[in-house]
Amino acid sequence: MIEDPKRYTITAALPYTNGPVHIGHLAGVYVPADIYARFQRLQGKDVLFVCGSDEHGVPITLKAKKEGVSPQNIVDKYHTMIKESFEKFGITFDNYSRTSAKIHHETASEFFQKLYDDGKFVEEITEQLFDEEAQQFLADRFVVGTCPKCGYEESYGDQCENCGTSHNATDLINPKSAISGSTPITKKTKHWFLPLDQYEPWLKEWIIKGHKKDWKTNVYGQCKSWIDDGLRPRAVTRDLDWGIPVPVEGGEGKVLYVWFDAPIGYISATKEWANENNKEWEPYWKDKHSKLLHFIGKDNIVFHCIIFPSMLKAEGSYILPDNVPANEFLNLEGNKISTSKNWAVWLHEYLVDFPDQQDVLRYTLTANAPETKDNDFTWADFQARNNSELVAIFGNFINRVAVLTHKYYEGVIPSPSTFSEVDEKTLDELKTYPNVIASSIERYRFREAQMELMNVARLGNKYLADEEPWKTIKTDEERTKTVMYVALQIAAALAVLSEPFLPHTSEKLKRILNFKEASSGQELSWGKASETSTLLKEEHRIEKSELLFSRIEDAQMQQQRDKLEASKKENEANNASVEPQKDMIQFDDFTKLDMRVGTILEAEKMPKTKKLMVLKVDTGLDERTIVSGIAESFSPEEIVGKKVTVLVNLAPRALRGVESQGMILMTENAEGKLVFVNPDEEGIVNGSTIN
Ligand code: MF3
Ligand code: ZN
Repeated sequence: MIEDPKRYTITAALPYTNGPVHIGHLAGVYVPADIYARFQRLQGKDVLFVCGSDEHGVPITLKAKKEGVSPQNIVDKYHTMIKESFEKFGITFDNYSRTSAKIHHETASEFFQKLYDDGKFVEEITEQLFDEEAQQFLADRFVVGTCPKCGYEESYGDQCENCGTSHNATDLINPKSAISGSTPITKKTKHWFLPLDQYEPWLKEWIIKGHKKDWKTNVYGQCKSWIDDGLRPRAVTRDLDWGIPVPVEGGEGKVLYVWFDAPIGYISATKEWANENNKEWEPYWKDKHSKLLHFIGKDNIVFHCIIFPSMLKAEGSYILPDNVPANEFLNLEGNKISTSKNWAVWLHEYLVDFPDQQDVLRYTLTANAPETKDNDFTWADFQARNNSELVAIFGNFINRVAVLTHKYYEGVIPSPSTFSEVDEKTLDELKTYPNVIASSIERYRFREAQMELMNVARLGNKYLADEEPWKTIKTDEERTKTVMYVALQIAAALAVLSEPFLPHTSEKLKRILNFKEASSGQELSWGKASETSTLLKEEHRIEKSELLFSRIEDAQMQQQRDKLEASKKENEANNASVEPQKDMIQFDDFTKLDMRVGTILEAEKMPKTKKLMVLKVDTGLDERTIVSGIAESFSPEEIVGKKVTVLVNLAPRALRGVESQGMILMTENAEGKLVFVNPDEEGIVNGSTIN
């Protein structure tokens, strides 16, 4: 770990531009990275925080194919949308770039060229998967098959999302083209490989023997197991037409592998920023006193801890990451977040449903951050965090302080008289928080850090509740002044300390406390926050109170859950499995079936069974008993009197001792519930089998 770095180079994973961003992205990568960057800036550190859109790679091409538009069209649309979402949530990138930018094409090309010239690649003609129908090589996500390591059947060509292993497409068992669904053949083609095996001893030294004990256990553990498994050369080029052209001889028709070009995007984003701000980019990447940090999700660990560092090492002039604080995944209401299944809370939609409540989401996601294990986001938790923490603790404290200061002193901070023991103790405790919170942030424990922040608000609430200025105002004006003075210092500390976590709230609070004036235009720094007894001086005037947080009602939460439920239904309907057609029959076969309209006269659940119901049915020919397996889908009352289709000449058979004399035709709706055959009914899809 670099002690006392000269500057911080903070990167956040470049999101793929094949869809909008959701809460999982925010929780895993962008909020923690932003907390860290804001915190270091408040410490007065030289911080560069970069990100951008990852616009190459197969997911984008696939999406473009599906929508019948060009890849450029897709990336333009989502780049704008993603960038705006990040801005609205207060993610303070110094530069949000994109990998289709000219400067990135140049930077990545030059990087490749340098490694090529220095003989760092192995050139090899190998067999690659090829889709004959689409006349295309199948790299990465163009191919799906069984993971050779864990057996997951929907592994991608380059990486298994189930076990995280990265592999070559030819390693997949039973590969299938994601374009045509056909089984690919193999075909010879030339590629350039980064011989990771040659970097193994060095990686062992750097990660395992090195000082990486301060890396998170999940990150260190993954790295160690890959290195222990043995590393193999990785192709860094692809036979695709969307990407950065391979700049060397023989590279025609080929592009750089997206995972080769994308991390270089951090460097291009730095260059772009430097050009626009009249700064130098190189110290951020080449000075060993700079602390390089990659904030990512766990599926990106191998690329940021093994492959990209090996690229940087091969190039020779770059520093390596000091830490890679990767998070686990966030689930949503018990299910894995999925873009394709539309099981997500999209940031651009949240912003419409909860305008001006960005901090509530930032808060909930941090409180529940998947730092050490996968975690679940639920709307119930979101509501509770808002109503019983932000509103009831933080908001309530600030509101009381501001309102009372106006009520008693017309907004002017009173002069304290002697501090009591409780006052001293409270101020002493308050003084410890900047360091306590800082120490958690420095160790990437953002949940813990935010909890300590809330403890500051709790301290304030308790202090007011114990000292009861609303009572002493009638009996002891001097005491009341002291209490309000102390409470105001707690409010001021909250304004500073909340900034990394709740930037919009911090801004409002600074407005209420009239901070600009208090600090004569200078932003109050983190260190200043420990000078807690003098943050707000007597006679300083504060502004009128504004509500920091507002209650979120049950109905709003129900709306969100309904929205998710609707997308689940839609998805199920789209995916409802349609059974393959049975063997041909002749017309004669059909006429053998005698189907009649009948009415259910009586219905009764068969005792000791889950599924069976005993029905009495009027078939027009007779009244007969039919045993039907519908008890899980209907109650007897619901179906008495219903008209149904009955197969009347089915040979009788005994079910649990009751003879069934026919069969009622049924089908299943999208939720798997049995329904009587009435194709017009809602939720019945084409191809539903009748039986
Ligand atoms: N686009 C990748 C993803 O969403 C992350 C790329 S990170 C970078 O998983 F390092 F390549 F930029
Ligand atoms: Zn796997």
